[in-house]
Amino acid sequence: MTTSILIRGATAVLPQGTGLADVWVEDGIIREVGPSLAVKAETVIEAKGLHLLPGAIDPQVHFRDPGMEWKEDLASGSRAAAAGGVTGFLEMPNTSPPTVTAELMAAKKQIAAAKCIVNYNFFIGATPDNLEELNSVRNVCGIKIFMGASTGSLLVDKLADLDRIFGHGRRLIAVHAEDEALIRENKARYGASVTIQDHALIRSPEVALRATRTAVELSRKYNRRLHILHMTTQEEAEYLATAKAGIPISAEVCPQHFLLHAPEIYAKLGTYAQMNPPLREARHGEALWKALKSGVIDCIATDHAPHTREEKDKGYPNSPSGMPGVETSLPLMLNRVNQGLCSLEEVVRWMCAGPARLYGIRNKGRIEKGFDADLVLVDMAKEKTIENGKLQTKVNWSPYDGWKTKGWPVMTLVNGNIVFRDGELFTDIKGREMLIDAPWDPA
Ligand code: DOR
Repeated sequence: MTTSILIRGATAVLPQGTGLADVWVEDGIIREVGPSLAVKAETVIEAKGLHLLPGAIDPQVHFRDPGMEWKEDLASGSRAAAAGGVTGFLEMPNTSPPTVTAELMAAKKQIAAAKCIVNYNFFIGATPDNLEELNSVRNVCGIKIFMGASTGSLLVDKLADLDRIFGHGRRLIAVHAEDEALIRENKARYGASVTIQDHALIRSPEVALRATRTAVELSRKYNRRLHILHMTTQEEAEYLATAKAGIPISAEVCPQHFLLHAPEIYAKLGTYAQMNPPLREARHGEALWKALKSGVIDCIATDHAPHTREEKDKGYPNSPSGMPGVETSLPLMLNRVNQGLCSLEEVVRWMCAGPARLYGIRNKGRIEKGFDADLVLVDMAKEKTIENGKLQTKVNWSPYDGWKTKGWPVMTLVNGNIVFRDGELFTDIKGREMLIDAPWDPA
């Protein structure tokens, strides 16, 4: 294991601005950042012509471990992350068994310590009756509430249960905001002969807006730290623009919700485009992008939710919801920088510094003296085509198959160790549990 590295001559995206800088790393920590550093290091990386960013943190992934390792596990999921320039992830509790107790959380962290090549933390899942565990389990990034049912059995849809959870404790609550009662009503109305094109009608914009409103009202009632996961509608974005004021609320969007649109995407990909909340018409994507640019939406996640081809091929509505994404999110955003749609600094705000700040993750998300050396070197001129069969995720398909994009990670460092370089992964390296330092966190 290397103990000191000098990354020389990269164009670094630093908190104070972007410019040429050397970065000196020792024992996994950034020790010095500045022009032409006169320091000695065991490894020198000549990075002229490349950009250096803080490693991305994906604040919403499903890595299926334990219990559904045929779809993904913490080894393959973390490899996909490393290849995509993602040095840390926050993982969801709908594994099997679901992560709903301190004991199950400890077991998951043990698996992660043995398998992950990037850094990690996990959400604890809310049920109607695990209130004590939600607030006493130590060092988790937040409480996840499925307000509408999705993959797995986790669900808290009764207002009295939601009120009790929001009213007790201070830890961050992240919501999958879909209104279960309205989903059920719509399912009954559409009946049995549905097609994939009906997915976004059953899980309508009103389904999303209603749950988002409920969560925001509860957050306001108790001044509770709330994060709205994967927002999908113009209506939610417009509502949040004013509703957010004065309450500790943040929101997130996934690239697929502003890049892939109904009805074309369902005609093209069928059930491979099925996820919850669903992909919608272009007007929603435009509004979400605008909300991201204006700060109404704070960060980007992928909701990486792999299912095998065999499972997807069962046909709607028997096919499961979800699509992979952890490996392609940073390249897709770098491509947008190259297209002139956003800046590299914005990408860093949305994918690196933002998630670290929103979740209170200690010493992450910035290239700054004293911070952990979670870094990604990107080649903004590199072009590559995303291709099924050439991915690290176990399911080895992507909704972006065939997309040629420009701007790719060429090296990923986790705690000062190179875990990915020019297509090669170094799996003997192990990531670490990320520490949550948030003022609202009890543990
Ligand atoms: O589409 C989805 N898939 N949405 C979720 O909320 C869960 C996820 C999964 O775990 O498959």
